[in-house]
Amino acid sequence: KSLGHVTVVVVGGTGDLARKYLWQGFFQLYADQVGKGHTFSFYGGALTPPEKGTPLLFGILKELACPPELSVERCALVKDQFLHLSKYHQLKTTEDYEKLNQQIKQQLGQEGMVEAGRLFYLSVPAFAYADIAEKINNTCRPPSDAWLRVVLEKPFGHDFYSAQALDKKLSGQLKEEEMYRIDHYLGKQVVSKILPFRKENKKLLDPIWNKHHIERIEIVLKETLDAKGRIQFYDQYGVIRDVIQNHLTEVMTLMLMNLPANLSNSKEILQNKLHFLASLQQVDHRNAVVGQYQAYNGEVQEELNKTKDYFSLTPTFAGVVVHVDNAQYEGIPIFMTSGKALDERVSYARVLFKSNVFCVQDPNNVQCKSKQIIFYMGHGTLQYPAILLSKNLFKPELVSSGDWKEVTEYKDVNVLGLPLSDYYIQSPVTPREAYCELISHVFFGRKDSFISAEGLLASWEFWTPLLEGLSRVFPRVYPGGTANGNLLNFQLQGHQVAFSHEAVVNVINRGAE
Ligand code: BG6
Repeated sequence: KSLGHVTVVVVGGTGDLARKYLWQGFFQLYADQVGKGHTFSFYGGALTPPEKGTPLLFGILKELACPPELSVERCALVKDQFLHLSKYHQLKTTEDYEKLNQQIKQQLGQEGMVEAGRLFYLSVPAFAYADIAEKINNTCRPPSDAWLRVVLEKPFGHDFYSAQALDKKLSGQLKEEEMYRIDHYLGKQVVSKILPFRKENKKLLDPIWNKHHIERIEIVLKETLDAKGRIQFYDQYGVIRDVIQNHLTEVMTLMLMNLPANLSNSKEILQNKLHFLASLQQVDHRNAVVGQYQAYNGEVQEELNKTKDYFSLTPTFAGVVVHVDNAQYEGIPIFMTSGKALDERVSYARVLFKSNVFCVQDPNNVQCKSKQIIFYMGHGTLQYPAILLSKNLFKPELVSSGDWKEVTEYKDVNVLGLPLSDYYIQSPVTPREAYCELISHVFFGRKDSFISAEGLLASWEFWTPLLEGLSRVFPRVYPGGTANGNLLNFQLQGHQVAFSHEAVVNVINRGAE
């Protein structure tokens, strides 16, 4: 049975993000959906005329990798069809969008197809959003019985006020249910399993998921890459706006929000997220320690054509301590840490439980060893995404049978203080890029995998006072790179302080003294 035709338009379809991730995601979507009732057409759009844009687009599409579940022959066939269904379309003026609309209607008419919906992916700088949204609204709306979904990439503003202004502009053109604000961390396989994991293991987690048992929480994104080549963007944002306000805040929220009764109820999930954000204790610059890698300022001078006496205050590293203001979690320190040009690339979020809770009688008991649950998002020593749980805590349910497997072969590696054999480990059967996952969620209208307007504003409301306070704070300079050994070595009041969560706390406490 025909479920109707879906038109996909990637605006900015020959850009970097589209080349690296988006087309691969749409190819995967097509491969997953072919023969299941929907028909598709794909448009790559950009400002350049077709003579230039067409070869660029097809240069990207021809290089797409085969989804791992397809045989070589099947993949060749599906890819051929995909290329056949794809076109370049110049998208600059209102007339260009009108022509696109004509073309979509013409094709539907010729082939006698019913329209299911139109998906516009805006892979363009945020300053262009309002204008493109207006063009889509005025010229490219499908008939009322078909859906319109417009996917937007961060940055969504740089503080509460600018996010609010952007939201106002966009909501004049598009309805909230039509907007899909992407945070690619929500598409990471481990992140998307945080709620299901909590739900599956609810009975065992409930008694310990609170201030009496949790010692602290760490949410970490360390990168080896620096900001070179992206300074134009990065210097206006810095690490807190780039990854902490969005990616790490989303992860924290999923870990600590009230569990929704129904995990397929997007509305309930988004409501609970809002409720959690509202329960955070206010933070200001005293909750943070910020750093900047040594070479950064030189890069700024060069890329932004600044003079030699120019000094940028943009942090490339931040450690922030956050607390929740409710009876369940009050007093638990939540450390959010991220930086560029560090010694390793890794991202994880972990809950560390108090070791002594079960150890009153016998502190040497194996039960007293470190107990933790780690949502390991990738890279680092493990190299694959996984959920790890200390064996002396409890044996967890498998988070999603079929898609996830238990890992039992142990290599001789330590992950965050424990050898692998001390953990129960679960991992996805097939690794998938976050963008692939999210593109399929847009297609299925899974709103809970995206940022709502209210959620976005709530997060900015929380972070804005801290960002304003930091705008006058000099970041501590750190050497950057692997040659410098273990992460940051802060020069602090004459003392050399190697980075650790303790160091962050020390710095913050000293600041408060
Ligand atoms: C992006 C940031 O949103 O996330 C980048 O703009 C950062 O600066 C990236 O490098 C990190 O994502 P991942 O998936 O590599 O951890």
